[in-house]
Amino acid sequence: MVVFAVTRKDSTPFDGQKPGTSGLRKKVTVFKQPNYLHNFVQSTFNALTADKVKGATIVVSGDGRYFSKDAIQIIIKMAAANGVRRVWVGQNGLLSTPAVSAVIRERVSADGAKASGAFILTASHNPGGPHEDFGIKYNMENGGPAPEGITDKIFENTKTIKEYLIADLPDVDISIIGVTNFTGPEGPFDVDVFDSTSDYVKLMKSIFDFESIQRLLTSPKFSFCYDALHGVAGIYAKKIFVEELGANESSLINCTPKEDFGGGHPDPNLTYAKELVARMGLGKSSPQGEPPEFGAAADGDADRNMVLGKRFFVTPSDSVAIIAANAVQAIPYFTSGLKGVARSMPTSAALDVVAKNLNLKFFEVPTGWKFFGNLMDAGVCSICGEESFGTGSDHIREKDGIWAVLAWLSILALRNKDNLNGEKLVTVEDIVLQHWSTYGRHYYTRYDYENVDAGAAKELMSHLVNLQSSLPDVNKIIQGLRSDVAKVVAADEFEYKDPVDGSISKHQGIRYLFEDGSRLVFRLSGTGSEGATIRVYIEQYEKDPSKTGRDSQDALAPLVDVALKLSKMQEFTGRTAPTVIT
Ligand code: G6P
Ligand code: ZN
Repeated sequence: MVVFAVTRKDSTPFDGQKPGTSGLRKKVTVFKQPNYLHNFVQSTFNALTADKVKGATIVVSGDGRYFSKDAIQIIIKMAAANGVRRVWVGQNGLLSTPAVSAVIRERVSADGAKASGAFILTASHNPGGPHEDFGIKYNMENGGPAPEGITDKIFENTKTIKEYLIADLPDVDISIIGVTNFTGPEGPFDVDVFDSTSDYVKLMKSIFDFESIQRLLTSPKFSFCYDALHGVAGIYAKKIFVEELGANESSLINCTPKEDFGGGHPDPNLTYAKELVARMGLGKSSPQGEPPEFGAAADGDADRNMVLGKRFFVTPSDSVAIIAANAVQAIPYFTSGLKGVARSMPTSAALDVVAKNLNLKFFEVPTGWKFFGNLMDAGVCSICGEESFGTGSDHIREKDGIWAVLAWLSILALRNKDNLNGEKLVTVEDIVLQHWSTYGRHYYTRYDYENVDAGAAKELMSHLVNLQSSLPDVNKIIQGLRSDVAKVVAADEFEYKDPVDGSISKHQGIRYLFEDGSRLVFRLSGTGSEGATIRVYIEQYEKDPSKTGRDSQDALAPLVDVALKLSKMQEFTGRTAPTVIT
């Protein structure tokens, strides 16, 4: 058995190690600076209570992006030096973000130990590679991201750090499943490399009716396509959709994880999931052959999802509303009812209408999954979702891309239960249209202006806040622009008081609320790594079933016009068009 020694290494602080919405995200070139990652990891250990470090079990893995393998070896050595008892690593360092959450909550070692937390190595939907992004975030015992109290402490520690601890261990081969034992000054230390998919697959099987999904997926009438965008979702897709549920291997595209995501942008939306979008008949050129009935994609770390029908896009805001409306009937995990539902503020109000109709507890929280986690821990939220392609439930404390696909497949399986040999399949589009005819439709679109000059973005936001002080002036501007847009009746910056811990989050997005229920929301992204990204969220509610079938960009054109002119988008940013429209 290898005996290791621990050294204290001198270090000095780096600027800007403040964890954002989902951890610290920077270019790989930044992370590769000597001591940069070490400082952040030591600052994290120092921010945790001793029982979460000394003698503890922690998980270290991620989406497999470039620099992950180096980072895992560094973190193993630092964990050993800091008195951690055991590190769990997914084979090849791979675990999706939802799988990490599941592993923290569900996995038990042979001697009965559970994990007290995890370092997740991902920059989510940002590109990877030597000149792209790397990221690290810490999740707690409940399986969810560290709360602000901890991330603030980490940041404070990074500003004063003087030394870190590291063990002189040899690198561990993380490609082979098995346990490697070491001994250090504080006793034994193990690295346990385990199968990346088994805990997660087991959890999914306990939630969904795999048999009924299998009948759907193997029916000759149904066709399916899943695009992992070369992220970590690929390994779960192979296990679940192909091995467990019998889908054809050819229904998986880009399902081999790559360190640089094949040079692509692993964000499942209509712009970046090009190959899937083309296959589903939504691209500019017509697809080869008939598009599949159902398509879905995931981001790099597999917590996001995009759901598509044949030639049909389901907005994430509708997706969560439809899952919530059907969950009790379609998904065994929810048979006894929903404890409540929640959405982030910029997400459309489609879920609100479902909550009202079904008499469910409802919460509107700021952007960021951690706000849902608190509600779930308090037992008041079962299903939640965000416009940013995140959907999930209280089975874990992260959003879950594969879960969302299984939820949709469950709904489709239920609707087609007696139909698989019948005439016509109930399609994704049918389900969405039926939903609109029952609940009304929230036309919705988001315009993103990526990598805008940070100063210009700030100025645009303060301009919008200033405007809010006089609604008559705002309405004068709008009336001068268009007569077909309703009056603004309220405008504010969204503020949230967490009903569970009482904490207050301010400045969570600038809102303009219109008389007819329409909304314009402006926010700066918290997940970018360069410049600023301005997001404009545009929404309009239509109750009249005869008017719910319009093209959403057409229906929203007047509001978009108002949004861009009111914010003086072009004047402030120089941009004449958004980078991405979803
Ligand atoms: C991450 C979080 C989500 C959040 C999203 C917002 O994915 O996990 O909860 O909605 O970031 O990103 P943004 O770039 O809009 O801050
Ligand atoms: Zn992600």
